[in-house]
Amino acid sequence: MTTGFDDIDEIKQYGSEKWYGLKEKFGTEDLIPLWVADMDFKAPQPVIERLTKVSQFGVYGNVKRTDNYYAAIINWMRKRYSWNIRKEWIGAGTRIIPSIGFAMRALTQPGDKVIIQPPVYDNFANIINKCGREVVTNPLIFKDNKYYMDFIDLEKKAQDPKVKMMIISNPHNPVGRVWSMDELTELGRICIKHNIIVICDQAYADLTYPCVKYIPFASICEDFAQNCITFSSLSKPFNLAGIHTAYAIIPNNDIRKAYDNFIESLHLKRSSLFSLVATEAAYEEGEGWLNDVINYIYANLQYMKSFIEAHIPTIRVIEPEFAYLVWLDLRNIATDPAQLDDFLVKKARLALNNGAMYGEGGHGFARVNIACPRKILEAALERIKNAV
Ligand SMILES: Cc1ncc(COP(=O)(O)O)c(C=O)c1O
Repeated sequence: MTTGFDDIDEIKQYGSEKWYGLKEKFGTEDLIPLWVADMDFKAPQPVIERLTKVSQFGVYGNVKRTDNYYAAIINWMRKRYSWNIRKEWIGAGTRIIPSIGFAMRALTQPGDKVIIQPPVYDNFANIINKCGREVVTNPLIFKDNKYYMDFIDLEKKAQDPKVKMMIISNPHNPVGRVWSMDELTELGRICIKHNIIVICDQAYADLTYPCVKYIPFASICEDFAQNCITFSSLSKPFNLAGIHTAYAIIPNNDIRKAYDNFIESLHLKRSSLFSLVATEAAYEEGEGWLNDVINYIYANLQYMKSFIEAHIPTIRVIEPEFAYLVWLDLRNIATDPAQLDDFLVKKARLALNNGAMYGEGGHGFARVNIACPRKILEAALERIKNAV
């Protein structure tokens, strides 16, 4: 059992956006930062030790992805998800969002359309627009405090021959769903029927709570595997965003060739030394730490739910199925984004992500990052209570 999530002497890491970006984003530094999706916790000790060793060695030349690196990923997918992947399927990535952009440029044409499911991670729409493709939305349905996919709407939108790709967030940031076998199967059926390539962003998969099952979309059947690129990274589960550890899993030869050629054209195939070392260390020796941090965050979630139920019943928590993002329904306080910001920043003195940034259906909601020591969460909840 890892200890120490409660007692952190110094949370502010070198150059941390979460801490040092407050003034630029919110106009003041005097806020509790529960926004940028990083944890306040140090990475697992074996990761720190291996990075320290490599860093002290002092030679930082070009590196190739080693057999150990590939084995670490293959074993992780088999152990955690019973998904048997092959070495040759594993493609380079820098971070997930730029890599989605590479895939989009490699496999679609300017003016083509890409489906996303708002309210969803804002950088999906950003990267689609920046690549000169068009966003098509298939908004989620919010019913009885839970989110669902709208397959009737999806089937309709998928018929447009200009739609060539769909990006799914699984687990879904920010609404907290881990999509079920039935949901993924129906989505896959529709996409295959209409020749739409599925991009599965599984940034948070490893943080799925133990009572829920995460199913990689491409592991469901051969047809889905042949029509999908899965993007994974260690940013979220092991708090390594600053190290750029993303990679792609692409079973389809043609899709992989197109993706690889695009990466070659940018001369981006080489990995960062520290990314390889951190990936091997975390996958080989970090699972105990990961399970502990999930349990710690789950306890934070239970505390948050009880506190809100007892003291701020006007707010509703949408139960998340993975750590560490929580989607709050604040529509009883404000639905207008500027008014909600006013409440969160000026009255509650908190830095959260205003739901409006995630597109349709996000107004009146906010995303809270609870990967923090309990005492910080307690202080934040007190502030909301007093502000209400
Ligand atoms: C759904 C989702 N995908 C990808 C990312 C970024 O991942 P990476 O650091 O590997 O680019 C984030 C970061 O917040 C995210 O929420």
